[in-house]
Amino acid sequence: MARVLVTGAASGIGAETCERLRAEGWEVIAADRTEAAGVMTLDVAEEQDWQRVVADAWPLDGLVNGAGVRSRVPLIEMSVEEFDRLHAIHTRGSFLGIREVARRWIDEQRSGAVINIASVVATHAVPGQVHYVSSKTAVAGLTRGAAAELAPHGIRINAIAPGVIRTPMTADRLGDPEQRAWLERRVPAQRVGEPGDIAAAVQWLLSEGAGYVNGVVLPVDGGWTAT
Ligand SMILES: NC(=O)c1ccc[n+]([C@@H]2O[C@H](COP(=O)([O-])OP(=O)(O)OC[C@H]3O[C@@H](n4cnc5c(N)ncnc54)[C@H](O)[C@@H]3O)[C@@H](O)[C@H]2O)c1
Repeated sequence: MARVLVTGAASGIGAETCERLRAEGWEVIAADRTEAAGVMTLDVAEEQDWQRVVADAWPLDGLVNGAGVRSRVPLIEMSVEEFDRLHAIHTRGSFLGIREVARRWIDEQRSGAVINIASVVATHAVPGQVHYVSSKTAVAGLTRGAAAELAPHGIRINAIAPGVIRTPMTADRLGDPEQRAWLERRVPAQRVGEPGDIAAAVQWLLSEGAGYVNGVVLPVDGGWTAT
């Protein structure tokens, strides 16, 4: 049986991904900063947390870097702390996770796959979120750089760029009927995404069927970035 560690597992996309992977026969180790039943405590921005959690979870065949946060602050009002906070969670957190599992996979001559959860904002920016846009763009770059470097070791690093997905992170936007209607018009599929749309893509990218897919940032956005 294959084993996978999923971060951001207490909510939204991460929680749905755990459920789907378990249903497909994966042994799933769930981790999050927020306490929840059956979820290991992990702050992805902390190097020592990664060392502890990966050591406890080992052996692993996969890692899903799903933890993330969003906030809206105009650029001219944004503090250095708030800018750095999102980069620490998204960019540093994904890097630390990849480094921790890759060290062990290379040491044990074992193959593995990582899926980073980026965002469509990595290619299509939105106002009021430069820290989110720049950190998710860095996650896309991290995906390509790590894939190019680790592929000779049989390690695949891919990312998914979700569009607007119905989770607690987007509850404020989707709770506003006007914003929701605008979004549904904006997306060619004429609906917002569900966590299951992302979980299905994660499952495929982790699978052997995606064995020759490496370094991609796959939009799962109902066609948003095609327009
Ligand atoms: N929902 C969307 O529309 C959307 C779109 C594009 C990308 N994403 C990305 O998808 C991922 C999941 O988002 P979601 O919509 O499920 O949000 P969510 O708020 O439902 O879940 C995010 C989870 O990440 C956890 N988390 C936050 N900081 C953490 C940290 N430092 N260490 C460990 N865990 C931490 C939270 O506790 C939470 O359980 C995020 O990376 C988000 O940026 C979401």
